[in-house]
Amino acid sequence: MTEPILEFEDVSIKYRTRGDEDVHAVNDATFSIEEHDYFGLVGESGCGKSTIADAIVGGLDDNGEVVSGTITFEGQEIQNFSESQFNEELRWKEVSVIPQSSMNSLDPVMKLSDQAIEMAKYHTDLGKTEAVDRLRELFDVVGIPESRIHDYPHQFSGGMQQRTIIAFALFLRPSLIIADEPTTALDVIMQDQILDHINRLKDDWDISMLLITHDISVVFENCDSMAVMHGGQIAEAGSVTDVFDRPRHPYAILLQNAFPDIRYPDRELAIIEGHPPQLTEKPDYCTFADRCPWAISDCYAGAPPAKTIDGNEAHRAWCIRADEMDELASDHLESTADVSNVLEDGL
Ligand SMILES: Nc1ncnc2c1ncn2[C@@H]1O[C@H](COP(=O)(O)OP(=O)(O)OP(=O)(O)O)[C@@H](O)[C@H]1O
Ligand SMILES: [Mg+2]
Repeated sequence: MTEPILEFEDVSIKYRTRGDEDVHAVNDATFSIEEHDYFGLVGESGCGKSTIADAIVGGLDDNGEVVSGTITFEGQEIQNFSESQFNEELRWKEVSVIPQSSMNSLDPVMKLSDQAIEMAKYHTDLGKTEAVDRLRELFDVVGIPESRIHDYPHQFSGGMQQRTIIAFALFLRPSLIIADEPTTALDVIMQDQILDHINRLKDDWDISMLLITHDISVVFENCDSMAVMHGGQIAEAGSVTDVFDRPRHPYAILLQNAFPDIRYPDRELAIIEGHPPQLTEKPDYCTFADRCPWAISDCYAGAPPAKTIDGNEAHRAWCIRADEMDELASDHLESTADVSNVLEDGL
């Protein structure tokens, strides 16, 4: 096994708000991304995915803060990095982000070639011609005709803009790319094309990827390993094969059951009845318990500890009943001819 490029260990992140109620967006999150791995982070809206992405590059909103735990990037702890350390040592060069609202991340009044020159000026010792040449190469990588490098962003379709953003994310040859919902704003065909391009990088570039999405089937199709999040907690983490074949956290199991077939990659993440709790305090219980068909009183008696599954250190579920889940779930799912009583919005 290679060394992890990124490790989260017991990381908690909160946002201060104007009232006296903080938002404990991420709590005791532990996972790691191996070098050259494509790692998928999946979970429903508000569960803390972008907060995790932002923390990696020091991009949390001003009221956000890593309150405990360690974030280690290539062997170095970064959770206490200053703004200038993030800028000088990490952003773009080592880690680049394709942000969730990436359609706004290109400068609308600047030609793309000029944006490449600017980027090169701040972060590299490349000259103008070399910068433009590099953009030209990257346009080729993401399938945009090289002749378009002197266009303005608004001359591009949404899909082309998104591919341009991927090109810029590759510009400084980072070792980790974070793609936060890279296809959400696009139509289905374009989504597939973008994922194809992202996938091709795996073979051609020496790169690791954190791919954030609502859609567990996108993770199953495109990633090597993954974590499922719910209500600010990591529910389950492991290789995609582990989580696909042997899910042990109830949330992962129900999601799985809502996506019985990965031949239908365009399905939305199913909505599971109920809502995650408002995290105005750090939760000392399982945040899925209220929605979980298998919850018992102990699920409210403490934050769930990590359980290693079948002796495989890389596969963990944060559920006190993880060891029983296989049996419990098969009984439950058999007794409910379909999962429509669990899933508010079947597929
Ligand atoms: N600046 C902020 N101040 C207060 N609360 C915030 C702030 N940013 C995010 N939050 C809250 O933190 C929680 C996690 O948000 P986050 O954006 O990480 O979720 P997400 O999983 O990326 O959701 P989505 O899938 O909708 O993008 C949510 O409850 C959100 O409302
Ligand atoms: Mg988000």
